[in-house]
Amino acid sequence: SLSVASSSSDFLQCLSTIVPSQLLLTPGSPSFKPLLVSSIRNAKFVAPATARPPLCILTPTKASHVQAAVRCGRHHGVRLRVRSGGHDNEGLSYRSQRPEVFAVVDLAKLNTVRVDPRQATGWVGSGTTLGELYYAIGKAAPGLGFPAGVCPTVGVGGLFTGGGQGLLMRKYGLSADNILDATIVDADGNLLQSKKAMGDDLFWAIRGGGGGSFGIVLSWKVRLVPVPPKVTFFSVNKTIEQGAVDAVTKWQTVAPALPDDLTVRVVVQQRTATFQSLYLGNCSTVVGTLRGRFPELGVKYADCREMSWLQYTAYLYFGEAASKKIPLEVLLLNRTMTIGPFVKNKSDFVKKPLTNNTWHKIFTWPSGAAKGHLILEPHGGRMAKIADGDTPFPHRSGVLYNIQYVQFWNGSGVGGNISMMPNWINGMYDYMAPFVTKNPRAAYSNYRDLDIGVNKVVGGVSTYESGKVWGDRYFVGNFRRLAMIKRKVDPADYFRNEQSVPPLF
Ligand code: FDA
Repeated sequence: SLSVASSSSDFLQCLSTIVPSQLLLTPGSPSFKPLLVSSIRNAKFVAPATARPPLCILTPTKASHVQAAVRCGRHHGVRLRVRSGGHDNEGLSYRSQRPEVFAVVDLAKLNTVRVDPRQATGWVGSGTTLGELYYAIGKAAPGLGFPAGVCPTVGVGGLFTGGGQGLLMRKYGLSADNILDATIVDADGNLLQSKKAMGDDLFWAIRGGGGGSFGIVLSWKVRLVPVPPKVTFFSVNKTIEQGAVDAVTKWQTVAPALPDDLTVRVVVQQRTATFQSLYLGNCSTVVGTLRGRFPELGVKYADCREMSWLQYTAYLYFGEAASKKIPLEVLLLNRTMTIGPFVKNKSDFVKKPLTNNTWHKIFTWPSGAAKGHLILEPHGGRMAKIADGDTPFPHRSGVLYNIQYVQFWNGSGVGGNISMMPNWINGMYDYMAPFVTKNPRAAYSNYRDLDIGVNKVVGGVSTYESGKVWGDRYFVGNFRRLAMIKRKVDPADYFRNEQSVPPLF
């Protein structure tokens, strides 16, 4: 309509008084589409039919650019989607399902990492990828590391705001548990340069309460954690015939109770279980420990590889296939995407071990053409010692492990067809209901899944009742506090998406 067109051009006009034109791209520019697609990780959101183009993409290099985006946006009725690494499972950092006028604030240029080896801390720009972070730490401070996720292209902006699970979490907790301070632009466009300036509530909310709800975090101060000179990786495959069902059944109670220095995760795919480790120590020790605690796994010295923690972060993702000796610079790979398959994810938390029969059923599930897998990550250790309310991430003591369900498929044509999604993931998820957490059936906010609920907007504001449907599942007893904080810091619900925390009035 006319008013949308004029508010859009007023917004761009307003921005251009502060932001240099080369940092502001509109759909008419030949660079617009490549930039929009640059960090999209899920091919199903590349298709024109499923994405409403943003009014513009802003790539700020300074806090003042982000402040201008918020101030101009509020004044002219244009909303913002903030993008760090672009890995949101539902693409909410660059697309809107509602017919809203919005701009993308892409933080990729705010990717500076400053490491202080003596204090064992670092300041990390919100547009930094995990690979960039790991590389910077490993080079500046061998002997230190940081607990975060597995994929090096994930952005810290989304990962930290949603929690941040990874293979160091049994020893050191989530990424969010190791954040000491932050800077943020709030819903009025103010730059709050410390946790003191933002207050305890807001600082609590941004460490696990989900991205896109409370403001635009510009940088994070993180606590770096000690890692030994060598860590140990092993990978052991077991087919059903080789005892995969019994091994996973036993793993459920063994893995969460192992020493904190040892994490063994499992990928279950096509009748096979792959057990992968991160051990903060050497091979002979881990082989000895597992011979005693988990002999069924049959880990041998030859299954192990010792390497630095930094090498490990590259090895785990790129594997042997990348090259015999992986250059660590693979961690800095630019974000340019080759359009891969379509992806759908779901998640669960498990508190009571599944029976051998249930696992048999899972392993022999007919998957048809779909390529689906389950990733099981053990909790216990430090995770069980942090109280449910210390951060918004409530899945703490009592959780044995989390499950991520992942389904890949190829759509047809450019970007493909979402409706061709095979039904493996929904069938498997329904089947699992009796065996996982109930009332609510919990889910991990960073494995975003719009099937579990989306907000309703009434009178310009997302309703608490609609948010509670999905919010209780991600945040359990912490959702209400998040909604009260939202009411305090953004009562007009300016920062919103289909699953943002609504204000509780
Ligand atoms: P993206 O930029 O899409 O942002 C995600 C959400 O956060 C959006 O709502 C966005 O608006 C908001 N946001 C981003 N930056 C913000 C900022 N600075 N301030 C406020 N809001 C901001 N998770 C995990 O815990 N451990 C893991 O090992 C992995 N591994 C993994 C691998 C792959 C291939 C994918 C696709 C995903 C994962 N994840 C994961 C899930 C991941 O944590 C989740 O998708 C994060 O939201 C991704 O963060 P990005 O910054 O990349 O996403």
